[in-house]
Amino acid sequence: MAKQKTIYCCTECGNETANWAGKCPSCGAWNTLTEVKLSSDRRSRAASSSRGDTANYRLKRISELDTTAEIRFRTGISEFDRVLGGGAVAGSLILVGGAPGIGKSTLLLQMCGSLEKDRKVLYVTGEESERQLKLRAMRLGVDGGKIYVLAETDMDNIIAAIGRANPDIVIIDSIQTVSDAEISSAPGSLTQIRECTMRIMRTAKDNGLTVFVVGHINKEGSIAGPKVLEHMVDCVLYFEGERSTSFRILRAAKNRFGSTNEIGVFEMADKGLRCVENPSEVFLSGRPENSPGTCVSCIVEGSRPILAEVQALVTPANYNAARRCNGIDYNRAAMLLAVLEKRGGLPVGNCDAYINVIGGLSLDEPAADLATILAVASSFLDRPLGTDLAAFGEVGLSGEIRSVSSLNQRLGEISRLGFKRCVIPAHVWDEVKQFKGLELIPVKSVAEAMAAVLGKKREQSC
Ligand code: TYD
Ligand code: MG
Repeated sequence: MAKQKTIYCCTECGNETANWAGKCPSCGAWNTLTEVKLSSDRRSRAASSSRGDTANYRLKRISELDTTAEIRFRTGISEFDRVLGGGAVAGSLILVGGAPGIGKSTLLLQMCGSLEKDRKVLYVTGEESERQLKLRAMRLGVDGGKIYVLAETDMDNIIAAIGRANPDIVIIDSIQTVSDAEISSAPGSLTQIRECTMRIMRTAKDNGLTVFVVGHINKEGSIAGPKVLEHMVDCVLYFEGERSTSFRILRAAKNRFGSTNEIGVFEMADKGLRCVENPSEVFLSGRPENSPGTCVSCIVEGSRPILAEVQALVTPANYNAARRCNGIDYNRAAMLLAVLEKRGGLPVGNCDAYINVIGGLSLDEPAADLATILAVASSFLDRPLGTDLAAFGEVGLSGEIRSVSSLNQRLGEISRLGFKRCVIPAHVWDEVKQFKGLELIPVKSVAEAMAAVLGKKREQSC
């Protein structure tokens, strides 16, 4: 029996310590240190394989390194390729995370369907039976002539099957269901996830395999043992969306081979996921006509401008004023409401304010500030902004409207979607005044923006 060493690993930051403590010494989180048992032969095996053959080891210069190693292949799903940075890199380990039922298995099985024409794929399913997988493949129209299926959860058997089948691509669905018999803890525990991912990674690197690993998100909103996995894998992609709507967004949280700014937009239909090439059109569909409390903004995700509708509902507070935000950072929303009160002269501080971004999008970009403020003001005053109006610009604490990047890209998308007027920061006027097809409304401050589009003059502020 191999000797075991115990370490304690933080589930939040992945930091390892020899002794247990109530608080993680690295990130300061409480009650996050979990016991991890490492067997000594496993540790020595890992150490020797990472050292390689030390006798023949020769250091190389960057200029001598072989760049042909980074060979990309298209997954055949355009939005997936976009998020990966133009396709998956052969030999990489990609983690696809998301809440249960969001569509991870569907996405990967659809990808297998388009890859099987010129690549051999092994789909390891620990969650579904072979029959369930076959039914899903039929529903998705995947022929599956070259997709090998293994309904297995034991890591030794999975590694042995990979050795026998010698595939180009392996899917592990999901990492929470596989387990290593040598480790006593239950499948899905931090120890199991960590050791199994390590073994998969070693097998993948030794054989030049590309591996897609599915990881379910735990209730804190991160893949169980998040940082432990993020350190190991090459790409971490999150599949997000409201289960009640059909739209899904794929986002890269880490990508060793590309940008993490790009998003992929999908629609879940009856025959699987459909790529949405024109997200703006989708996110704006069903907009109410001339209704107060809604404003459209343009954000830039990677290389693509996307129009997003911000909705706000401001009502008199019955008890303590409440704030609810969906798709926009809570602190940012609180700041914008304070600016609106102090610099715009609208007493929104005593009101309940609900802010929602349509389609499950999240607006991290400050460019959406102006639209958010206008939506709130429009709801407070109960005056519509008009369906032909869009706005973008960052709002500062003095109520000033600051410039943003990618101006022509944003204006182009706004005009393409049929808008007629756009509120912009006055600072960028010289750069965009030649732009045809839109009436541009340059504004310097929140008060000026409200006066221009809501006819609201600034009143005495508190
Ligand atoms: P699934 O890929 O099983 O989710 P995950 O692997 O992330 O847990 O997706 C399951 C959901 O997708 C389920 O609620 C049904 C829906 N779905 C469709 O709407 N259409 C389809 O063609 C398929 C295969 C699934
Ligand atoms: Mg699944």
